[in-house]
Amino acid sequence: MEEFIRGLPKAELHLHIEGTFEPQLMFEIAKRNHISIPFSSVKEIEAAYEFDCLQDFLDIYYQGAQVLIKEQDFYDLTYSYLKKCAEQNVRHTEIMFDPQTHTERGISFETVISGINKACRDAQRDLGISSLLIMSYLRHLSEEAAFTTLKESLPFKEHITAIGLDSSEKGNPPSKFKKVFEASVAEGYIALAHAGEEGNADYVWEAIDILNIKRIDHGNNALQDPELVTEIINRDMALTVCPLSNKALQVVSDLKAHPLKKMMDLGLKVTVNSDDPAYFGGQVNQNYHEIHKALNLSKKDLYELAKNSFNYSLLNENKKKTYLDELESYYLTNK
Ligand code: ADE
Ligand code: ZN
Repeated sequence: MEEFIRGLPKAELHLHIEGTFEPQLMFEIAKRNHISIPFSSVKEIEAAYEFDCLQDFLDIYYQGAQVLIKEQDFYDLTYSYLKKCAEQNVRHTEIMFDPQTHTERGISFETVISGINKACRDAQRDLGISSLLIMSYLRHLSEEAAFTTLKESLPFKEHITAIGLDSSEKGNPPSKFKKVFEASVAEGYIALAHAGEEGNADYVWEAIDILNIKRIDHGNNALQDPELVTEIINRDMALTVCPLSNKALQVVSDLKAHPLKKMMDLGLKVTVNSDDPAYFGGQVNQNYHEIHKALNLSKKDLYELAKNSFNYSLLNENKKKTYLDELESYYLTNK
């Protein structure tokens, strides 16, 4: 099965580029930028990655991102993630980045997006992986701050496909960002958002009804409300589910208690993703593998998950079809 998962063509639709920052690279970049970090070894860093909840993790995640200063840093971070994609037969990826984590520290929007975008372009050329970018607003900050970011993004619009909403969910409902989402969509960005990771079903309702999102990041707590589940199915929206993240942040007590199979059985369109692989103990293939083991998923289930990853990507229909054909022929020869 490990071999089947490794070769399975797939897309990754939910990952934060700052969450792919491996300790080894963090040390290297900190050193060349002469920034001290409060850890003296990779082992010490890894030992600090024990979380009780989302906020616990976010505190460490924002701290790690502080060593990113130059365009080359953002390039190295992104290219290093894309190399891992190539090893896992991730054919397409939709990368979230948090501009405010950097602009708040005086790093320009241009520095951030140029480094990320150049790495994506080189990975397309050298590794044959397609990517697109999702600019995420930090929900613990104000709507006004998100408006500033929207404005800063406009000169680089051609490189950005969608907007997202991430960071501390509880106490920061989607409705807080109604106006900036409307303005972003008016600029041509597609709306996406994290909802129902720690927040309840009412936050998912707000995200779909008030922010008009096209895909739900996480969405676990949608299961609290059967009417909401029906609505998500009727609107043909996918959930980008992140099993190892849910385990690490104690959204589920154990992978065996993960609702992914239940979601599939209810008729929800589910995809499997790594969220913040450097912090949660595994890349996307590890997520496929561990959830397969925990829930006894068949090859057909895994094929379904990979199919969803292309079908619910933001690619145009032609590109989707190319990847779906590749996936189908892989499945038919390896099932
Ligand atoms: N930022 C990075 N990872 C996140 C997650 N799992 N939830 C919310 N914000 C995040
Ligand atoms: Zn996330």
